[in-house]
Amino acid sequence: MDAMEKIVSLCKRRGFIFPSSEIYGGLNGAWDYGPLGVELKRNLKQAWWDDMVAHHDETATPQGAPQPFGMVGLDSSLLMNPKVWEASGHVGGFSDPMVDDRETRARYRADQLAVYALEFIGSDGKLERYDEVLFAAPGELGKSTPTELFEPHRKRISGLQKSKPGKEARPVAVPGALQDETLRARVLAPGASAPGTLTAPRAFNLMFKTHVGALEDNQSVTYLRPETAQGIFVNFKNVTDTTRVRVPFGIGQIGKAFRNEINPRNFTFRSREFEQMEIEFFCRASEAAQWYQFWRERRFQWYLDLGMKPSNLHLREHEASELAHYAAGCADVEYDFPFGRSELEGIANRTDFDLRQHMQMSGKDLRYFDDQEPNEEARRFLPHVIEPSAGADRGTLAFLCDAYSEDEVGGEARTVLRLHPRLAPIKAAVFPLVKKEGMPEKALEIYRALKKRFTVYYDEKGAIGRRYRRQDEAGTPFCITVDGDTLSAGSVTVRERDSCEQTRVGISELGDVLSARLGI
Ligand code: GAP
Repeated sequence: MDAMEKIVSLCKRRGFIFPSSEIYGGLNGAWDYGPLGVELKRNLKQAWWDDMVAHHDETATPQGAPQPFGMVGLDSSLLMNPKVWEASGHVGGFSDPMVDDRETRARYRADQLAVYALEFIGSDGKLERYDEVLFAAPGELGKSTPTELFEPHRKRISGLQKSKPGKEARPVAVPGALQDETLRARVLAPGASAPGTLTAPRAFNLMFKTHVGALEDNQSVTYLRPETAQGIFVNFKNVTDTTRVRVPFGIGQIGKAFRNEINPRNFTFRSREFEQMEIEFFCRASEAAQWYQFWRERRFQWYLDLGMKPSNLHLREHEASELAHYAAGCADVEYDFPFGRSELEGIANRTDFDLRQHMQMSGKDLRYFDDQEPNEEARRFLPHVIEPSAGADRGTLAFLCDAYSEDEVGGEARTVLRLHPRLAPIKAAVFPLVKKEGMPEKALEIYRALKKRFTVYYDEKGAIGRRYRRQDEAGTPFCITVDGDTLSAGSVTVRERDSCEQTRVGISELGDVLSARLGI
């Protein structure tokens, strides 16, 4: 099993994540969070909400910020007036290029299908190019190894290889092959019996269309939101009219988003239904560059503060050519997933594009009025926006991957999720060492007292070592054991997940000791 297979298997085995509607064969791109998974994902969202919104102190200047700022929350509807999506550009432009295979009926995102010719290299270093047939494979030269790219065409390529003894085959990218009709006719798609079965790339809108009300006509069309952000923009005026927030300030929102992804893949990484944690931060145009820097650093640091390994996390500034036409800057927080380095969160300087679009489309004045600005001309303005946009499912997956480890304890192999205590689904498990001598009764008493403060778990079944292993796999930071000394000494052992170190703690102090050690 490779690393990703092990994580998927653990998620299924321990009830973190299941395929959606599995008893009917599942639904591609949809996932269900089981009893442990729902706690983990809720903890991640709660950490985001607490750190970004609820516990934010608008009277203090956070490190690296130009000044103090306010943060408020929002929960906007999933279904909105379809004009929202016209104004935002999603109706016209939220699409991916798609190609279909007429023979196998497979559908690909054109930008994720590499096309390559072969080059045969002899021991004398001489190159011989073969491009009679071009080979298409999901992946990208540079990111995928030649063996991975060759995989869908293994038989055909090894046949060619045999006709060139002593020469090694390697892939050479043929950019633009899918767009060029002549070249496309020579492309052999994965699983196809002959070249030329792929269609030309065409734009595929990723929004899920639906109808509101009883009539299914053009008038009733709307969309499941593909991002939570637009719900924030269209409520900008409501928020400024009803709260004391003043620019600069941010509005945070957590909620579901839907995208009809052409190729959902890599477990929950690219799903059709997922959750986002988004902030729209409103500021003056002249200060946008400074706030952009602040949010880049702040959001990157947030993952590190939750225990993500620094070596797995990267902040990548986009090239100018990658930027949307309205964006003045964009950086991705990227994580080294087992399937490669990929985006976890994007931080974008969206200028005043969204508010301007909604102002034009709705005819409502969305400008902000700063009554404390001495310069009359500068009092009314359309704020610029910095948008840190994170995925709750991608975040959950990244923390699972980061926490997964295998080690040995007392000569026995164990799988352990080294999750940060704030994220751990269960904070502590309580065990009686054996099921006699009053130990279960005492353990239950402790369990019930702790349950009022933490998510705790009681288990009395099986050997103590096995119970520890089960909690290690669930990422539980502490196991509390009631043993033969507990009744007389009034204390228990507390075993720490990562070090397996055991300490004795008085029952009366247990809650406070746990709280301090968990940092919650
Ligand atoms: N409002 C800006 C926006 O939506 P995005 O880069 O398209 O930007 C932001 O999405 C984040 O949402 C991504 O960084 C990712 O974490 C998450 N996300 C986007 N599409 C996703 C998908 N199909 N499955 C899971 N998460 C997704």
